[in-house]
Amino acid sequence: MPADVEPQSPDDLRDVLHQVTVERDGLAAELLRAYEHLGILFEVTRRLPTGRTAKEVVQVFVECLQQSYPGATVWIVPISPGAGIESPTKQAATADDAMVDTVVARCHAEGRATVEERGDEACMERQVLASPILAGEGVDCVIVVSQGADGCASHLLEAGDMQLMDSLCTFCVDLIRNLQLVDAMRRMSMDVVRVLVSTIDQKDEYTAGHSNRVAMYACMLGEALGFDDATLQTLEWAALLHDVGKIGIRDDVLKKPGRLTADEFEHIQSHPVRSAELVGQVPQLAEVVAGVRHHHEHYDGSGYPDRLAGEAIPLLARVIQVADVFDALTTTRSYRTAFTCEKALDILTSEAGTTVDAKLAAIFDGLIRLATADREDGLAMLRQRAEDSMRLTLQSCRSKTPANGVES
Ligand SMILES: [Fe+2]
Repeated sequence: MPADVEPQSPDDLRDVLHQVTVERDGLAAELLRAYEHLGILFEVTRRLPTGRTAKEVVQVFVECLQQSYPGATVWIVPISPGAGIESPTKQAATADDAMVDTVVARCHAEGRATVEERGDEACMERQVLASPILAGEGVDCVIVVSQGADGCASHLLEAGDMQLMDSLCTFCVDLIRNLQLVDAMRRMSMDVVRVLVSTIDQKDEYTAGHSNRVAMYACMLGEALGFDDATLQTLEWAALLHDVGKIGIRDDVLKKPGRLTADEFEHIQSHPVRSAELVGQVPQLAEVVAGVRHHHEHYDGSGYPDRLAGEAIPLLARVIQVADVFDALTTTRSYRTAFTCEKALDILTSEAGTTVDAKLAAIFDGLIRLATADREDGLAMLRQRAEDSMRLTLQSCRSKTPANGVES
């Protein structure tokens, strides 16, 4: 019965009531679905920013979707070759699935969410929804939500789910691009610092490349100690900058081939404090300062500048010190030639507990022996690795700045 016609009989009234009930149930179902979508939106936008890398963001996204669609299977299909994105539910994906292949190809080609269905309104056997995350830089992938693989399933995935997936994937891409931008800025800052410290190292021909090698050795040790990414980052900054204060040391002292006088020794011993003061001027490097200032403290308390002892010496400073001593021993100086790797490790071990932290020295010893095992040129190979990374940095800096010095 049309809605604008007055009911004339009890049957008409029943029809009207039936219509109202159907419309009410439809509205209630729509409202419930909208509420569920809002819940998914809230949960995904709350949890997604906890991902610190593109890979983590995508994985958190898939976990959220899996929780939001408990009857479905959610996984990632990488598009970029070698994307390296591991799907948390990869094992659930069937290797040979024509329906998935079709929907993924269409989704990738159209660049938006799309769905493939098998069955009809009465019996929806299966639905596969695919939505793209096209953020570039090797993280392009398609998120697949599949439900109802066996028999008839309720029609859970609707037009609203496609819109929601499109919005969430767009949010995901924005977040990944922001992370990529932050990472590019971080790498550029690190490149600038590498170039700066290499210039300072070259004040003395005997210390060329020293800070870069110390950073490499320190990060090897930091990784073996299980440092998290943030701590490793702080360590790398501190190791690169530990001797930056040498810029304030007079050349006649820094390059003096003979024995230093007491005054000259005092002057050169001021470099960790000078380094810490320089680094301390950058608020973002506040956590780096302690590792820089204390890299010449000795475990037995006989070092400088504050004569700290044992574990009172910040851990990052103790790590840098081991790396610093090893690089100094394996580099030719004005007063002696470089020790072999074996001899340098022996000296480091003999200094354990007095100059350097014994536990760290033992771990470092094992690491270097492992890295150079079965290679006569093992140490040269390690030093070459540091040089190669520096050369790549310089190439990268040159390619970013044209000859006229103006950024393109
Ligand atoms: Fe130093």
